[in-house]
Amino acid sequence: MRRTGIVAGIGSAVPARTVTNHQLAERMDTSDQWIRSRTGIAERRVIEPGTSTSDLAVEAGLRALRSAGTDRVDAVVLATATPDHQVPATAPAVAARLDLPGVPAYDVSAVCTGFLYGLSSGLGLIAQEAADTVLVIGADAFTTIIDPTDRNTAPIFGDGAGAVVLRAGAPDEPGAVAAMELGSDGRLAELIIVPAGGSRQRSSGVPAAPGDHFMLMQGREVFKHAVVRMTDSARSVLARAGWPLDSVDLLVGHQANARILHSVAEQLGLPPERAFLNLDRYGNTAAGSIPLALHEAAATGVLKPGDRVLTAAFGAGTTWGAACLTWPDVSAG
Ligand code: COA
Repeated sequence: MRRTGIVAGIGSAVPARTVTNHQLAERMDTSDQWIRSRTGIAERRVIEPGTSTSDLAVEAGLRALRSAGTDRVDAVVLATATPDHQVPATAPAVAARLDLPGVPAYDVSAVCTGFLYGLSSGLGLIAQEAADTVLVIGADAFTTIIDPTDRNTAPIFGDGAGAVVLRAGAPDEPGAVAAMELGSDGRLAELIIVPAGGSRQRSSGVPAAPGDHFMLMQGREVFKHAVVRMTDSARSVLARAGWPLDSVDLLVGHQANARILHSVAEQLGLPPERAFLNLDRYGNTAAGSIPLALHEAAATGVLKPGDRVLTAAFGAGTTWGAACLTWPDVSAG
């Protein structure tokens, strides 16, 4: 039988500091009512000065390892668009802090679809027999690349991380990914972009303008593409897995906007209550979003062993993807 990766543990981590919509409204022209009604977000978590993505990644990783009942894995994949440094990648530092020096460790950059790309990479390592166990972490500190006074972006993003441990197993075991799809369209790169800091701007000889290190987003366009791509990918993985729509117990989509997730559920024909939401408390945590939501759904009993879970994401790039799996009997703390 084909060898694949099975979800064997899950964990997450968020910073302690909370910033409410009311606090944001003190520094920009917005309101709690506007943010809640347009996004579903009430508050988000923000890292403390001097801390970074790797701190969240290590904490989420440790919890996932504990959940899997192990302290060893053969590889670490870190999905992030907010690495600690441009060079080197953040994953080796995370692996070292998890007392895993020597294992292959690398970053995957697909922004809000990052966790699904990282998961796919981890599954590939197992399928190729390059690893028997892989820690896949999604972690981002988007508040470090957001203008704290920009009402287009600051209300939406927060910091957070989640992680899963994959172990080698068989495709018919609970926890095996039944189907996965990934996609990208770089023609839409300008929809969400940090203009400065990369080789394009650095080689131009033109110093970055103030604010160019912050993220720009065309929110309305992103919204439209997100609904279409997440819905199409979700349909496609269900078809490939041979799962009828009404067999899906929970949609754990990328937590970008409650209206996006409800639109995806509606387009698919799923009742809105099957779309899991925790963005009210965390906002959009980018690569952290899906594993953070899966962990919370499992820890609170909303997602139970044996449930069929569908996940889908859309992000800068643009990138998108979906995956479906039967939830395994793992300890979610
Ligand atoms: N507070 C108050 N008013 C705001 C506001 C804010 N934070 N942001 C925008 N507005 C105003 C706009 O200026 C506009 O005013 P106008 O009608 O007078 O011109 C009005 O609200 C509507 O703006 P619009 O941009 O059309 O709002 P929207 O309903 O599309 O919501 C987003 C904006 C950003 C919440 C929404 O487009 C979105 O969530 N997009 C997807 C973002 C996303 O998911 N990004 C990550 C992808 S991984």
